[in-house]
Amino acid sequence: MKKFVVLILSIFFVLVSIFYFVPSILFDGPVRADISLKPDDQDLVVLGKLVYENNCALCHGVNLEGQERWREPDADGYMPAPPHDETGHTWHHPDKYLFLMTKYGLEEIIGQEYPNNMPAYKDILSDEEILASLSFIKSTWSREIRLQHDKINEMNK
Ligand code: HEC
Repeated sequence: MKKFVVLILSIFFVLVSIFYFVPSILFDGPVRADISLKPDDQDLVVLGKLVYENNCALCHGVNLEGQERWREPDADGYMPAPPHDETGHTWHHPDKYLFLMTKYGLEEIIGQEYPNNMPAYKDILSDEEILASLSFIKSTWSREIRLQHDKINEMNK
């Protein structure tokens, strides 16, 4: 009888682990269902600030100001990092673009070679950390710019 219980329990645990892990393997596609920035989610924004400071600030600036003369190619012909504040064009792009750009890089998005200095973060940051960093960026924009950005998202649904 004891053996029987152990057997049933083992089967139960195997099944539970399969149901627990398989969906994450099968459904960890390139795009998660919800990749919306959440600038009003305090916890996410706090995490995002940390992620930003540790990963993005080096190029995009501690105050999101970008690199100098970011509109012109540098000596190697690469574009410098643009600002993420309102003077840049980050807010011109919908959430999905910003997320994919950060996760996979520009070449993956435009589908052609385009050597540039923006790293792809797919092996460095989790989806949540990427969303957090971008949510932090959005949280620094004025009300007007955030509303404009919401509209851009609406148009790109
Ligand atoms: C090594 C420097 C570097 C680091 C670190 C870096 N970036 Fe970038 N990023 C760039 C450059 C350069 C571009 C512009 C690429 C181009 O257009 O050629 C860019 C562009 C972008 C864009 C597109 C902006 C737009 O308006 O099109 C986003 C979004 C972005 N970066 C987010 C991030 C985030 C989030 C992080 C941190 C997790 C990060 N970047 C870290 C260099 C960097």
